[in-house]
Amino acid sequence: MLKQEIEDGTRSFADPAFRADVIDGLTRRPRAIPARWFYDRRGSELFEAITELPEYYPTRTETALLKEKAGEIAALVGPGRAVVEFGSGSSTKTPIVLEAVAPSAYVPIDISGDFLRESSKALAARFPGLPVVPVEGDFLQPIKLPAGIAAAPKLGFFPGSTIGNMIPLSSADLLRAMRASLGAESNGGAMLLIGMDRIKDVAVLERAYDDAAGITAAFNLNLLERINRELDGTIPVEAFRHRAIWNDDRARIEMHLEAREDVTFTIEGRPFSIAAGETIHTENSHKYGPRDARILLRAGGWTPIAEWTDPEDQFALYLAEAQAPRPAP
Ligand code: TRP
Repeated sequence: MLKQEIEDGTRSFADPAFRADVIDGLTRRPRAIPARWFYDRRGSELFEAITELPEYYPTRTETALLKEKAGEIAALVGPGRAVVEFGSGSSTKTPIVLEAVAPSAYVPIDISGDFLRESSKALAARFPGLPVVPVEGDFLQPIKLPAGIAAAPKLGFFPGSTIGNMIPLSSADLLRAMRASLGAESNGGAMLLIGMDRIKDVAVLERAYDDAAGITAAFNLNLLERINRELDGTIPVEAFRHRAIWNDDRARIEMHLEAREDVTFTIEGRPFSIAAGETIHTENSHKYGPRDARILLRAGGWTPIAEWTDPEDQFALYLAEAQAPRPAP
């Protein structure tokens, strides 16, 4: 990159973590690039559009469930908890929960500081009198909550079946980290409200991740465009196609980018070649049957105390309580 280009602002500095993940991911077999790199500005816009697609049932199903069950949720949760959201919502889901449970504070946690400050401002305006205390950090690690919040009992909120984007090993780690962050033995004990997508008809699942309008395809392919933009790549994006494949053994939808033909390109001058039919794995979305979901929660240190689903059993909401440490059995 030329110094002049940097000064002109015609090129931005590449994020070294993005570069490392892309180079490493395209060198490894099977090829895979971590899903977190989907979310540049364009990717975030496309994702917003995905949540409104007719084929993408999770967002509207979970939102309707939260609205419909708000009273039951509130009765079990009780008033005065600090609501701690993991991955601060731009969504319409957060206000539904905050309205229902009469919280003492709202604590959104996100790694993206800009996004966090924006969404916190909007929520504070909507709920005057409610302390909104954003925490910038990586919720995969146990997080130390601000002193004013630490004393209150907590309700963790983790919607969108985001837990499904992790492999079970990482999901259990995350649930345990949440239990530690929320304080399993804090006064009133910690609770968790979490959304998990159900295993269902394969055609319904595959369509949800490969819509007729091609928005999910554009979202997936944008990763290649981002590599071209930010890492000086020469990937012929049209030479790749979006694939959404149900992996029954692992109970997950996998998103891949498949080479339609033999492709060669460079990234910051490094040569790569991908043969026709080879794929780059970009995302997993694990689905959980009722027993799977309850076992996962227990493995992560949470006891499910309520479960709600829509009439078609497409999507499930769980309320769980932090397990107190206790000896076997
Ligand atoms: N967690 C949601 C899901 O797995 C949202 C999501 C993450 C998603 N990555 C995606 C949706 C890619 C569509 C495409 O469904």
